[in-house]
Amino acid sequence: MKMVAYIVVLVLFSITSSLVFAYDPSPLQDICVADEKSDVLVNGFVCKDNKKVTAHDFFFEGLDKPGNTENKVGFNVTTVNVDQIPGLNTLGISLVRIDYALNGQNPPHTHPRGTEILTVIEGTLYVGFVLSNQNNNTLITKTLNKGDVFVFPIGLIHFQANIGHTPAVAIAALSSQNAGVITIANSVFGSMPPISDDILAKAFQVDKQIIMKMVAHIVVLVLFSITSSLVFAYDPSPLQDICVADDKSDVLVNGFVCKDNKEVTARDFFYYGLDKPGNTGNKNGFAVTTVNVDQIPGLNTLGISLVRIDYAPNGQNPPHTHPRGTEILTVIEGTLYVGFVLSNQNNNTLITKTLNKGDVFVFPIGLIHFQANIGHTPAVAIAALSSQNAGVITIADSVFGSMPPISDDILAKAFQVDKKVIDLLQAQFLVKP
Ligand SMILES: *[C@@H]1O[C@H](CO)[C@@H](O)[C@H](O)[C@H]1NC(C)=O
Ligand SMILES: *[C@@H]1O[C@H](CO)[C@@H](O)[C@H](O)[C@H]1NC(C)=O
Repeated sequence: MKMVAYIVVLVLFSITSSLVFAYDPSPLQDICVADEKSDVLVNGFVCKDNKKVTAHDFFFEGLDKPGNTENKVGFNVTTVNVDQIPGLNTLGISLVRIDYALNGQNPPHTHPRGTEILTVIEGTLYVGFVLSNQNNNTLITKTLNKGDVFVFPIGLIHFQANIGHTPAVAIAALSSQNAGVITIANSVFGSMPPISDDILAKAFQVDKQIIMKMVAHIVVLVLFSITSSLVFAYDPSPLQDICVADDKSDVLVNGFVCKDNKEVTARDFFYYGLDKPGNTGNKNGFAVTTVNVDQIPGLNTLGISLVRIDYAPNGQNPPHTHPRGTEILTVIEGTLYVGFVLSNQNNNTLITKTLNKGDVFVFPIGLIHFQANIGHTPAVAIAALSSQNAGVITIADSVFGSMPPISDDILAKAFQVDKKVIDLLQAQFLVKP
């Protein structure tokens, strides 16, 4: 009987698994920290020996520091991708901080390999993206205030402009270890060698004189095409521009059925209130505010989502895993002690780090991890997950609080303790109806 109960639990797990969004990254090992010293060229980077891996390989500091926006367009992107955090290799996610001067803008650009999910930390932005020809190049725009969240689907041209009276700051995550950037003006009018002015004059239906002027005015800041040959092919690749989840459909698919594009509005890519703290008045003293496909239907098929985590003093986000997503986290306020545990194959090595404001850390997909507030004040983090619906399995609740319970015979043997100890644990975690 107890065995049967156990199997039912497994079956329930596999049923939810069959509804999983299969499109997210799925690395072939726990971790594959990029080996900067290797000459071997692969898709992404060669892995460093796990014996030489430390917490530093998953860490970046200084994301609380503004970038210098004193340039022609008045913006600055601080990138935290696999070049800054070698541990991101094969994990399909990265983070950026964007600073906007007064009247500054992040000019029209695309990320060839990543969907972007952005939250405003300070200021007011006017943002938008343009659907492809097939969808009549429809422009979708929105004004964003502090705590608002917006999505820019993979490969689509988009922009952000500071329309407030103060500098603005955003934190954004991208569904790739190296999403790439193609700034339209630079790519079209500033390529090296230049695209023939005959071709551009015809493409833009203007006089060649105008094209020559535009070419002269564009300064190529960075040559992004060089990085393109090192593409990470493992990231999401939707089959259309957008597939906004249709919450009225009864049809069950992997993810959600798409709503008719004619009914899509900017609201489908929007969420507000991420500046508001969650209620940490619970046993563990923490609260997660989730912004996934349930809150933003436009995230469907795009392989990314965002959370805000609040921690009371001494609060913790207890050991858990995300079955479908790698997490990249940055500390907005306070001090956290964080860690993750490698799998059996890697001797269950624990990798830990103390994080302060502006620090960034990575929790690879599926690995058990935790965060604890070790400061004297409440702490806040923003984290992105490489799935539209990464899932959470809290170890204590899943093992000792499943419904029906896992047999205490099985657990006593698994944990090599007396059945009484298991019963005590189960009494703590079984939800009383
Ligand atoms: C962005 O800011 C950093 C740090 O202040 C600076 O080194 C870099 O040159 C800036 N980039 C641009 C494009 O202005
Ligand atoms: C695009 O425009 C065509 C022609 O006006 C129209 O038939 C079609 O429904 C439009 N598609 C969308 C997605 O708006």
